[in-house]
Amino acid sequence: MPTIYDEFPYPGKAFGQTHPDHLATLALLFGMTPAPAEQCRVLELGCGDGGNVIPMAFGLPRSCFTGIDLAGSAIARGQKIIDELHLTNIRLQQFDVMDLSADFGEFDYIIAHGLYSWVPPEVRERILEIAKSRLAANGVAFISYNAYPGGHLRQTLREMMLFHTRNISGARERVKGARELLEFLVQSHPEQDAYSMFLRFEVEALLERKPECFYHDELEEHNHRFYFHEFIADAARHDLQYLSETRLLNMQSGVFPPETSDKINALSQDDDIVREQYLDFLKLRNFRQTLLCHAGIALNRSPNSECVAQLSVTSQARPSSAEPDVRSTAAEEFNFPKSGKMSTNHPLAKAAILHLGRIWPQAVPFIELLRTARNLSGRDDPSAGAPIVEDSNWLSDMVLRLFAADFLELCVHASKFASTVSDRPAASPLVHAQVRASLNITNLRHASISLDDEAARHLLLMLDGTRDRQQLLAELRSHLAPAEVTAGQLERKLEELAQMAVLVA
Ligand SMILES: C[S@@+](CC[C@H](N)C(=O)[O-])C[C@H]1O[C@@H](n2cnc3c(N)ncnc32)[C@H](O)[C@@H]1O
Repeated sequence: MPTIYDEFPYPGKAFGQTHPDHLATLALLFGMTPAPAEQCRVLELGCGDGGNVIPMAFGLPRSCFTGIDLAGSAIARGQKIIDELHLTNIRLQQFDVMDLSADFGEFDYIIAHGLYSWVPPEVRERILEIAKSRLAANGVAFISYNAYPGGHLRQTLREMMLFHTRNISGARERVKGARELLEFLVQSHPEQDAYSMFLRFEVEALLERKPECFYHDELEEHNHRFYFHEFIADAARHDLQYLSETRLLNMQSGVFPPETSDKINALSQDDDIVREQYLDFLKLRNFRQTLLCHAGIALNRSPNSECVAQLSVTSQARPSSAEPDVRSTAAEEFNFPKSGKMSTNHPLAKAAILHLGRIWPQAVPFIELLRTARNLSGRDDPSAGAPIVEDSNWLSDMVLRLFAADFLELCVHASKFASTVSDRPAASPLVHAQVRASLNITNLRHASISLDDEAARHLLLMLDGTRDRQQLLAELRSHLAPAEVTAGQLERKLEELAQMAVLVA
């Protein structure tokens, strides 16, 4: 029977935070021995059109992927891409979570993104049952959900939108009606009082959503929210325990003054669940992406910096000064496009961050980063008296702190892509298939990228490794005529695409 997701399709996309390598990295840091992403088994519940699980299967050919979803049309869209890419390590099936049995096998990673809050209680129970019964001994389950207390704010708007659209039928028309109400509310409150600030804060984000996401995320019958402690208690009934959040930043109290952190520690009395619940109160958290594992696994509650030596590191750091001084103890400032800025005067830290920014988007193994940073900062000079073991310990601690602050990323296995443009550039076949099908585009680092520019989309389709610069320029000019394209513009566009990690050559 067609579902509302068949009538009004939800556009799939990749979520980097659900990628098995990210889950393996966190599991390793918290003391588990997870399956390597390069050879693992992944199940995604409510996978929609496979926008998340198909790029994973494409990037990890030795791993096996299963995606299930109730909406047959979404599964059919995903299957088309799978066929086009000749992927043999993935199966998508139209299937109800309620009917999933032991025949499906066992999985190292189970993902439920955008599902748990949008289904009735019996389906939520089943999701947790599956997360327990189908998860391998060292497996990790990812479940995202709307959270309280921040969810109260969104719920207030949802209740008003449901009332306003009570007599409207048709998903698209209901979205239109709901948006009109939101705009009316914002416009009617020009003054800077608490209510208008709340409206602006919540409504701006809502109005940016695509109509399909707006409808399914906000106006559907099921939209449930939970306090973190309630979710963890439900997981514990299924013999699952809390591992971590997918972003360590969300578990930090360091953004608050030290006395606030001290107070949280005193209130929580070493209970991590209670501690994070108080953090949710402080941060008015409205969404969580929680990792669970089997109860009984002994975890390090503080991430272990010794593991950092087994990992690779990436960062999009940009120094503020044109020629940062990485040899002295002068402070240097670095900017991170998604997470703000930081400054440090430690030569090893400055050299490491500078190097990461220079090689972005490529990842570097920690050991190589240590070697390069010691060399750039002059600390490998025997007269500098900086023993490598000391520097290694110091740098791994710092890398972990920067990871927890979202200033850099860690991975077990770095993804492969070309970050320089070859004579005959080639884009990933996955990107070609996604552009042709007008789907959201996923790069080779499992991130969704936006490419609204029609010329760039056309250029991507031409990048199949057969055309040199002259041929690309000639074809682009004939496609875009009468607009002119210069060789310099083409080169810049190709470099941009390389920085987006969509090229394989
Ligand atoms: C909000 S969408 C999220 C899709 C995708 N996971 C994402 O986050 O973008 C929820 C998906 O769950 C699917 N779904 C809902 N109930 C389900 C069930 N009982 N069994 C399988 N899939 C279900 C819907 O068809 C829909 O594709």
